[in-house]
Amino acid sequence: MVAAVIGTVTTIAFRSYLYDQADGRLREVAGRAAGPQPTTLLPDPDRGGPASFDGLRLKDPMGFLVGPGAPLGTVGAVLLDGELQTAAVSTEVADDTEGPRYKLRTLDEQQRAALAAVPRDDAPHTAELPGLGSYRVAYAVGVNGTYLVGTPLAEVDDALSTLIVVELSVTGAGLVAASLAGTVLVRIALRPLRRVAATATQVAELPLHSGEPVLHQRVPEADPRTEVGQVGAAINRMLDHVHAALNARQQSETRVRRFVADASHELRTPLASIRGYAELTRRGPEECGPDTRHALGRIESEAVRMTGLVEDLLLLARLDAGRPLDVVETDLSALVVDAVSDARAAGPGHGWRVELPAEPVCVRGDSARLHQVLLNLLGNARAHTPPGTKVTARLRIEGADAAVVDVEDEGPGIPAELLPHVFERFARGDASRSRHAGSTGLGLSIVRAVVAAHGGAASVDSVPGRTTFSVRLPRTQDTSQPDHRLITQA
Ligand SMILES: Nc1ncnc2c1ncn2[C@@H]1O[C@H](COP(=O)(O)OP(=O)(O)OP(=O)(O)O)[C@@H](O)[C@H]1O
Ligand SMILES: [Mg+2]
Repeated sequence: MVAAVIGTVTTIAFRSYLYDQADGRLREVAGRAAGPQPTTLLPDPDRGGPASFDGLRLKDPMGFLVGPGAPLGTVGAVLLDGELQTAAVSTEVADDTEGPRYKLRTLDEQQRAALAAVPRDDAPHTAELPGLGSYRVAYAVGVNGTYLVGTPLAEVDDALSTLIVVELSVTGAGLVAASLAGTVLVRIALRPLRRVAATATQVAELPLHSGEPVLHQRVPEADPRTEVGQVGAAINRMLDHVHAALNARQQSETRVRRFVADASHELRTPLASIRGYAELTRRGPEECGPDTRHALGRIESEAVRMTGLVEDLLLLARLDAGRPLDVVETDLSALVVDAVSDARAAGPGHGWRVELPAEPVCVRGDSARLHQVLLNLLGNARAHTPPGTKVTARLRIEGADAAVVDVEDEGPGIPAELLPHVFERFARGDASRSRHAGSTGLGLSIVRAVVAAHGGAASVDSVPGRTTFSVRLPRTQDTSQPDHRLITQA
């Protein structure tokens, strides 16, 4: 912008300077053409002309075209009675000293017309002469008569175009240099900001939602007097704060988990005692009335239920705390068969089916926990469907490295409002009925926690008439296992 203004102003000033010079030259040539200014001797020079004043007249009225100070290409015309008479242009200077040192060429009609169109006043005008280019043209009145004189502007135009080219080149080069320098400077100035961005990206990729928070990333120190340095320092303070808050949350979670684990553990012994004493009393030699026997039976059954609940809570607390599993190479096919056998024994009213692939399916896992997963799923299929419902346990291989167990039943399905939360703790369909049936709502949360601890995932898909729970586990390739056949049991 500044370069454009400077360039324009310079060009205008230079142009007017060059035009002034050209006009000066023009006046000189015109003065020589027309001679001194008319005096009282020359009352009407327009009517005079070269023929009228023998004493002062030039031999060659167009001689001024090649005289000193008249550049090559000077145009001249003699006017008589306001009409253009002879009109010529100097075209070359001959080397031959014998002959004429100049050559004049008469102007053609178009060029004469262009000359005649120049306003007749004292001021010089710019005119475009066809075939000759632009000219500075002026009328000159003197003792020699009236002349129209024009000097070429080619040199002026050349000088102006050279100036404009130089200005544009210098401005262009300046802009390129300025943008390069600007880019380099901005890059250098923003380097600390890039470090801030890199730290923020690293922090954003950290798994902070669970587990022990590891948040040691900090923005490298930068000059605190700069804005970037202040941003970095503020981000570091924020990260310190977030780290402290995450630590506090983790500690509080750990305390709660330990409390639940300790409480569950502590409750196991008194519960076992209650169950034992109730059973002892009920079966003891002393006769007791039917009411007492009923009450003892209820004490026993509730103690059993509470023991199950406490065991579940303890297991969840341990899984939450990341207790290591007892991982061994486990034959999933055998586990499925065992679990379905157990389920068939517990629920003979249902129709149980097993589908196994031909090849062995092994996973690395805690077989007791995986057995519990299958029992929970099969137990749900039994507890939450009417007698006679068909239940299928299907083991299949998915891709190269996943084993999937589907437990599918043809029961009424999981209510739509419960489905998204079915894996959450204490999520139950019909709370009153379930509680009566000994349900706590922890079965599926244990399934999810155990499967996640094995690096797998549990999912559910349920519509009335078909509910499928799928447990996906990472599979190990073990060909030492005996071949399995597709077994279908009804
Ligand atoms: N196969 C199924 N068909 C219909 N509803 C189901 C099925 N499996 C689970 N549900 C619903 O999901 C709820 C949660 O199941 P979850 O196993 O977590 O708890 P629960 O079976 O009620 O209690 P428990 O802790 O004794 O297993 C159940 O109460 C039941 O409403
Ligand atoms: Mg259950």
